[in-house]
Amino acid sequence: MNAPAVGAGVGALRAHESARLHVSGRAPYTDDLPETEHTAHAAIGFSPAASGRIAKLDLSAVLTCPGVLRVFTARDIPGSNLHGIMTRDEPLLAGETVAYWGQPLFLVVARSHDAARRAARMANIEIAPLPAIFSASAAREQGLEVAPARTARSGDAEAALALVQVMSEGHIDIGGQEHFYLEGQIAYACPLEDERVLVHCATQHPSEVQQIVARTLGWPMSRVNVQCRRMGGAFGGKESQCYVFAALAALAAASLGRPVKLRPDRDDDFMITGKRHEFHIGWRVAADRDGFLTAASFDHLVRCGWSADYSAAVADRAVFHATNAYFVPHFHCTSFRARTNTQSATAFRGFGGPQGVLGMEVAMQDLALRLAVDPLDLRKRNLLTHGERARLHYGFVLEDNVLPEMVERLEASCDYRVRRLAVADFNRRHRWIRRGLALMPAVFGVGFGATFLNQAGALIQIYVDGTVSVNHGGTEMGQGLNTKIAQIVAHELGLGTADVFVTATDTAKVPNTVSTAASSGADLNGMAACNAARELRRRLAEVAAARWHCMPSNVPFSNGFVRSGDKAVTFADLCTHAFTMQVSLSATDYYRVPKVEYDYDAFKGRPFYYYTYGVACSEVSIDTLTGELKIERVDILQDAGRSLNPALDRGQVEGGFIQGMGWLTSEELVWRDDGYLLTHAPQTYKIPTSRDIPEDFRVSFFENENAEDTVHRSKAIGEPPLQLAVSVWLAIWDAVAAAGGYAKAPALRAPATPEAILNALDSVR
Ligand code: MTE
Ligand code: MOS
Repeated sequence: MNAPAVGAGVGALRAHESARLHVSGRAPYTDDLPETEHTAHAAIGFSPAASGRIAKLDLSAVLTCPGVLRVFTARDIPGSNLHGIMTRDEPLLAGETVAYWGQPLFLVVARSHDAARRAARMANIEIAPLPAIFSASAAREQGLEVAPARTARSGDAEAALALVQVMSEGHIDIGGQEHFYLEGQIAYACPLEDERVLVHCATQHPSEVQQIVARTLGWPMSRVNVQCRRMGGAFGGKESQCYVFAALAALAAASLGRPVKLRPDRDDDFMITGKRHEFHIGWRVAADRDGFLTAASFDHLVRCGWSADYSAAVADRAVFHATNAYFVPHFHCTSFRARTNTQSATAFRGFGGPQGVLGMEVAMQDLALRLAVDPLDLRKRNLLTHGERARLHYGFVLEDNVLPEMVERLEASCDYRVRRLAVADFNRRHRWIRRGLALMPAVFGVGFGATFLNQAGALIQIYVDGTVSVNHGGTEMGQGLNTKIAQIVAHELGLGTADVFVTATDTAKVPNTVSTAASSGADLNGMAACNAARELRRRLAEVAAARWHCMPSNVPFSNGFVRSGDKAVTFADLCTHAFTMQVSLSATDYYRVPKVEYDYDAFKGRPFYYYTYGVACSEVSIDTLTGELKIERVDILQDAGRSLNPALDRGQVEGGFIQGMGWLTSEELVWRDDGYLLTHAPQTYKIPTSRDIPEDFRVSFFENENAEDTVHRSKAIGEPPLQLAVSVWLAIWDAVAAAGGYAKAPALRAPATPEAILNALDSVR
């Protein structure tokens, strides 16, 4: 695992830059940073009701608890109390009314973490109830939305559906998902001299945290510095809602003049923060007798919670992915963004894409049953191919579609046809256990749907000893972004990855960054860093060329040396020389994504720079007496372009897939009738563990350089593999259908917990 000094650049299998620190427990997360003397600890007191007017908020008993230093309510906020992501509709601390059970009402600061938590429970709160809405359908009936409903269409779906020959019609309930990042939300705010504050925060979006902290305090942004070295997972959950913790910690730190740490415990984190969006999808999908899709019409009903957050963008991505990887001539989709009295649903790996894909794939499953064909044959018949048959419903035509080849390849390598027969044979021979098999393709559009966000900056500093420090706008959450950036910069400068050090994300170094999300961290920041490294190499090449009287273009950088003909100098010596020649060894650069052009109102155009492709085949067994599920085997073929680091990319495929599998099989969020989240801890909320990983798990990559000019022709990898977990759910569907002799389509919801599987079995008997 020791980094070789030279040569291991782009495309190499390299361990995560912090792997050794991770596994030996020496990688500091925000909570591990040395605490300054006088550090105080904060806890949030939250609403004990889902909807109502705050009739009484008496904190006298909180204040007299041992160790308590101060309490803060909405009235104690010097700047703005109103924040939000796409809309400013979120009070940091509730003032007059509450909109969900778990909404922050006050902050208590004490000498210890424990004292603050104990005190937070002592408040005397009275909420005068107001009507509360929990289901998205009830919200729609009353016209309650967090963002305007949208409709996308191409062709004439209604006319085409009227001519239908074979029709699938149904609806599916798709549950949400708690992020369950291993490191919870946290912020540590340290006051600096003269109205300045440094906030260490677990955040995917330091610049937004900076802006919201500044607004909360009524300070200019330049007085707020936000830093994040690493996160112990984020998965979208620290894209927006992390600001709550940062702004409250900063408020307390600035008021008390001492450092304040705010780390909610796991239960509070569950209660306060939002999750993946629940979807209710209704579909009508039609095909002709030959199994060619003629039309698809969807109704997406999205439960967004109490505020807008990213919901509009999440719901839009679900619409983009509503036909997954298939050609559909006539398309129609409505999308309603329901406001409910629950946590504000937010970004979660896939960002609405996986829900959209599931809506289409369940329809394909159902249609195949009606046509009495193998679902794989139906999928292949309708797969996006080339030219007009690669046109997506929003008008964009895939230019580099490799799905047909990938599907063929996985079908062969996983022995799909043989195993289909073996599954049928197994099901004939066994009484209680049923097997199911499903192979599905997926596409994922890469980049931010809000297209102006596709930009990034980087700063590189080379020191006179030839060592390199890189800073960029992205954040490290375990995905290996910093390792990839180090590889990219090392490659440009002819150094080893170990010679390049990527420092903590810091708003004082690279300003106005976008969140590390939409799987585009390496695309955006990698390209910005690459540009900055090229600029420095250009300057250094000029220095060398002046010394050797040659052309700067004839000065290659490799293996730690810079050469021209038979002359050579070490990179370090050249840097020292450049300093004496008064050449700057620091550069910032910038990248913006080209080509993206999208008409928001018409829902048409090219919302994404490029697409990634993936195919997965899953085989499962279910116990028809208990509903127990076992994943027998999973095969994945993933397109990562020309991978920057196949070791990290494999980790992303495996992790993303398992996380998606958890969402669709075991992770279930349950709210009580009064809006209280019952599943707010690991005792009641089951994420996959190492024992849930498929026994036979085969991941391979499809060699395919990105047709677009991305950094080293790589492709994004963070989110796309999560969608492939839909194949597990489809295999369960197949097993349930088999239990009913394929006479009926199962009514299976997601997650397919043992209970849901038993219910679905009832539906086919
Ligand atoms: N991998 C790890 N280990 N931890 C994470 O929090 N987040 C995912 C994905 N992979 C995540 C992860 C999400 S939601 C996104 S958008 C991408 O990583 C973000 O990083 P990238 O753009 O650098 O791929
Ligand atoms: Mo990822 S959901 O885009 O943070």
